[in-house]
Order: sequence, then C-alpha cells, then structure tokens
Amino acid sequence: MSTASKLDRNLTLEAVRVTEAGAIASFDWIGMGNEKQADQAAVDAMRNALNGLAIRGTVVIGEGERDEAPMLYIGEDVGAGHKNGTGPEVDIALDPLEGTTITAKAAPGSLSVMALSEKGMLLNSPDVYMDKIAVGGGLPEGVVDLDNPVSENLASLADAKGCAIADLTVCVLDRPRHSEIIKECRAAGARIQLIPDGDIAGVIATTDPETAVDIYIGTGGAPEGVLAAAALRCVGGQMQGRLVFRNADEKERAHRIGITDLARKYSMEEMAAGDVIFTATGVTSGGMLRGVRRQHGVIITDSVVMRSKTGTIRRIEGRRRIAS
Ligand code: FBP
Repeated sequence: MSTASKLDRNLTLEAVRVTEAGAIASFDWIGMGNEKQADQAAVDAMRNALNGLAIRGTVVIGEGERDEAPMLYIGEDVGAGHKNGTGPEVDIALDPLEGTTITAKAAPGSLSVMALSEKGMLLNSPDVYMDKIAVGGGLPEGVVDLDNPVSENLASLADAKGCAIADLTVCVLDRPRHSEIIKECRAAGARIQLIPDGDIAGVIATTDPETAVDIYIGTGGAPEGVLAAAALRCVGGQMQGRLVFRNADEKERAHRIGITDLARKYSMEEMAAGDVIFTATGVTSGGMLRGVRRQHGVIITDSVVMRSKTGTIRRIEGRRRIAS
C-alpha cells in the first residue's frame, strides 16, 4: 500500500535551481585544469542554493565527512527550514561536480547532481567504492545479478531483449581494475563502451534507447551509486550495488555511519526508497545533457528533474541574464 509522500511536488522544480547553481558556478572552471577549484565553486553555489530552499535537509551523501570536508559534509544540516522548524524533513545526496577531471579538461559529460528523499530513505554511504550492475526498464525482475558471472548476465540480458550478445553494449569505466570484466565481455562477444569518468550518466544511459547502452557493469564511487539508484527509481530500471572496502579505515567509516553488514548486496530500492526526486544539470555537454553555455549576455543551462512517485521526467532549459 502506498503512503502519502511528504515531499511537495513543487520541490521538484525548486531542486533544479540547486544543480543549476552548481553547474553555473563550475562553468568558469571548464578547461582550466583545476579540479579542486571547479569542485569548490560547485559546492559553494549548491550549498547557498540549498540554504534558500524551504526544507529541513540533512546531507547523507556529500563531499566527505565532517572532519575532512568543510562544506556539504555527511550529516550537515541544509535548508532554510532549520531556522524556524518548517518545511519537510528530507535527506539529500549530492555530487556538486560529477566529473571533476572531465570539467578541468573541458571533456564531455560532467554534471551537477542531487537526489532528495523523505527522511531515512537514502542509503547513508561513506565515500568508498561500490560494485555496480544496472540495466534499463521493461526487463524481467532479476534479469541480471551482481553475483552472476558476466557471461551469464549477458546471456540472460540478450535473451530478455531478444537479441544476440553481439548486439549488447556494456558501459564500463575505463580503469585497470576492470580488465577482467572487459576480458569477459569480449569473450562473450559483447560491445564495450569505455567511459573515462562519470558513471552516474553511465548507469542512466542504460535506460535511454538513444544511447545504445544496454548494461552498466563495474566499480565506481558509492556516492555515485546511490545517486544513480535514485535516478533509476524515477526513470525505471534495475540496479544492485555492494560497497567495496580497501582498508580498515574505510570499514571503520562505514561502521561509524551505522553499516554493520559490510558484504551486503543492496537493491536499487534499498539504496533509494520511498518518494525520490533526482535532478542533474549539464556542466560540459555530453550524451545526457547539454553543458552550460554563455550567449549574448545570457547563461543557458540544461537540466533534467524526475520524481519516483509519479515517474514524471522534465527537461528544463534555464536562461538567466548575466548581471552586468
Ligand atoms: P569525480 O567527479 O569525483 O572525480 O568522480 C568521477 C568518477 O568517474 C565517478 O563517476 C566514478 O564513480 C568515480 O569517479 C570512479 O572513481 P575512480 O576515478 O577513483 O576510478
């Protein structure tokens, strides 16, 4: 039985302002070779925009932990509602600049990204790696599984799609750690789209027939995993993730935020439950969104905002006059 959502529908449109702000602030740093400054500009702008929203928000996926990240750290309260106790209590996952290297190199596909949910509905994850697998909508539940061999997943997906494995494209982050996955995909005869960065867009690409990407497989950031799961909850699709810990410190960080089962396989719904809003604005142009452009005294942004409860997906072009 579905329960009433505490999220106001207008919050979807308000949320877009936040990623727009992050993207616009990053614009000055596109191609400037400075990843840190680009990220910091997006963080500052997003935090400002969030503090203008009538919410009582808590950052659950952010820029790191309190002791190491001065802004938008995990656990930070954001939103104007904290001052007077008004507005819905929401959890916030954000990546102010998804693709810092992409932005610094003026390469395609960087984004400013955020997800909002009712309180307690987003997986609180430390900034570690996550093994991920994702496919788009309209497929039988469980068509692929993180614990199955790559060849088995590809055979099952090809069967469900009524095509040959050679017709499938697997999106994989271009990293040495993925050599085994790549070898297995090649042995099975699938095509591979290697991406340099940006696996939120890589996961979302599985849901868009225009991209030709059928499945995402590989290890990327856990925060990006939760954000991608939030997007798939809205747009439809399947995803599983499992946190990857490289050392005792990472395990300790997980324990500190209440994760006890370190080997747990999370379903999409366990990463992003309830009513979820996902929004992203393009920083540099890519397959998913156009980047920020400046034309004739106007700054133009391209964003997408979606909501799981209704399945509504909106593309929003913002045009702002540049203050002279
Ligand atoms: P940043 O914007 O934080 O650099 O993340 C980009 C990204 O490519 C993510 O999309 C991905 O999940 C992660 O980095 C992969 O991590 P790594 O670069 O360490 O392999």
